[in-house]
Amino acid sequence: MVYSPLNYTGNKAKLLNEIFDILPKDTECFYDVFCGSALVAVNSYAKEIYINDTSVEVLSLIKYFIDTPTEKIISNMEAIIEKYNLTYSRVKPKGTYIEYKHEGLSLYNKVGFNRMKTDYNSATAKDMSVLFALVVYGFNHYLRFNKKGEFNIPIGKVDFCNSIYDKTIDFANAIKQKNVHITNCDFRDEQIYNLDQPPKKLYYFDPPYMITDAPYNLFWTMEHEKALLALLDKMNERGVQFALSNVFYSNGKTNHQLIEWSKKYTVHTMKRQYHNANYRRKNHSLAQEVLITNFEKGEK
Ligand SMILES: C[S@@+](CC[C@H](N)C(=O)[O-])C[C@H]1O[C@@H](n2cnc3c(N)ncnc32)[C@H](O)[C@@H]1O
Repeated sequence: MVYSPLNYTGNKAKLLNEIFDILPKDTECFYDVFCGSALVAVNSYAKEIYINDTSVEVLSLIKYFIDTPTEKIISNMEAIIEKYNLTYSRVKPKGTYIEYKHEGLSLYNKVGFNRMKTDYNSATAKDMSVLFALVVYGFNHYLRFNKKGEFNIPIGKVDFCNSIYDKTIDFANAIKQKNVHITNCDFRDEQIYNLDQPPKKLYYFDPPYMITDAPYNLFWTMEHEKALLALLDKMNERGVQFALSNVFYSNGKTNHQLIEWSKKYTVHTMKRQYHNANYRRKNHSLAQEVLITNFEKGEK
């Protein structure tokens, strides 16, 4: 599996093995309709991937990984580290930086990070290499913007360390191996779908969840949820394969409507429980993740 340097909220990194154990192995076209970091599409068996999301920013970052030679992504990051005087622990001798218990490297990077954030937010033409650096050095690698469209995550505790460096190279190389088609539409937009094409395609849906906390869930209403379930029923009638990630229970809440709807299909309960990490609250609760498919596991 390839992992993403974007620790995108709600990404499926911890469930990739379980998900791909269930999905057909002979898919030629993989549609990731709510792609987020595109982690699922990148790991799919298909050469042809169709990724869609309503977030322009996350799609622009993915496009940066596709269009920029991998060595250039690394050298851009190194130039930014130098320009903003940020820590670069992977190349410095051990002990160069003292990490304080709850602060990590944030004390070293705060001034430069805030300067970089101001520069990014005031620029008219947004530089994706800078946005990527903001995500890497920002708190928990979150990608979040305020209503004015400004990046508004505070300084994080880590830097462009070995694991993020490796993920950057792996992800950037892996996505360049695919034929990627990008759309920036609401999932109800018909241009995303081509239900008449020959088989060996799979539509994967990882929408905002009704009962969990993520910034993009705020705009997800019962109307969206109903439209999505109706769309999946329509796909099923047309004989098109789909897989839907979601949660049945979380935070003491239950998605009754989804549970009822899922009875028509195959429900795969993920063994790995999902920690509902809400950074505004101290308590982390468990959620029951599921993958709902209109085919049996392992079916080709
Ligand atoms: C759970 S996240 C997907 C995470 C992704 N599977 C990953 O591994 O990174 C849901 C995504 O749906 C997108 N989204 C929200 N509303 C949408 C809509 N109406 N149509 C399409 N995408 C939407 C959000 O921007 C977010 O990126």
